[in-house]
Amino acid sequence: MADGFFLTFEGLDGSGKSTQLRKLATHLQALGLGVTVTRQPGGTRIGDRIRGLLLDSKTDHLAPQAELGLMFSDRAECIAEVIAPALHGGNVVLCDRFTDSTEAYQGGGRQLGSEIVLQMHRTMCGGLQPDLTLLLLADFDQSLRRARRRNDRNATAEHDEARFEREDEAFHRRVYDKYREIAAREPDRVVVIEGDQTIEAIHRQISTLVDEKLRAAGLLPTASFTPGEKQMPENPDKARFTP
Ligand code: TMP
Repeated sequence: MADGFFLTFEGLDGSGKSTQLRKLATHLQALGLGVTVTRQPGGTRIGDRIRGLLLDSKTDHLAPQAELGLMFSDRAECIAEVIAPALHGGNVVLCDRFTDSTEAYQGGGRQLGSEIVLQMHRTMCGGLQPDLTLLLLADFDQSLRRARRRNDRNATAEHDEARFEREDEAFHRRVYDKYREIAAREPDRVVVIEGDQTIEAIHRQISTLVDEKLRAAGLLPTASFTPGEKQMPENPDKARFTP
């Protein structure tokens, strides 16, 4: 499906991934690339309604399998409405969470296991895989504290997204372990960014890595390129940069 480049951000709540995603979007836009930013759950009108249901801590008695189904309904809608058209148009798509979140939270946290998640991914998402996944794994205790502080600060009667953060530490440990397992299983796709560095240092690390991947994909000119000079992209079918 992909003519563009599909990049996902993953991590525990409070890992700083959304901040990094925004900074990367600004960086890529400044390089002249078409960038589409989306998130899961959410990212579409239907998805935002599903997000409200899933994240509001007033939602209780939701069976883990129902939660799993809602995550994939949201994702299927986001692929159909946002991700697939943007990739077809040659954009770089930055998505805040994707199926690795489901494997980590529902597969690991809720203990449904990986297999059912991977099966649903094949069925509901046509097996669409990110070209690159950045997994931000900051210190476990620090992430949890940050996520809980943020939700206490932001929570109002109408807006409460703390349902997952309120899970106990054992739940979040299982999420963390499952993320490590995914990274070990798919080292070519998943790059672990150890998060115990400054925001700027992590941003530099991410932008250097992503620029390299985009050059390899023919979406950015190679380093030796000088402005005004035309050059053959490594993969002409994927070329989107017009100097
Ligand atoms: P966030 O948008 O602030 O990262 O929060 C989304 C929450 O939803 C987060 O706690 C992780 C959870 N989640 C799942 O449990 N499964 C999923 O498939 C996705 C996309 C998110």
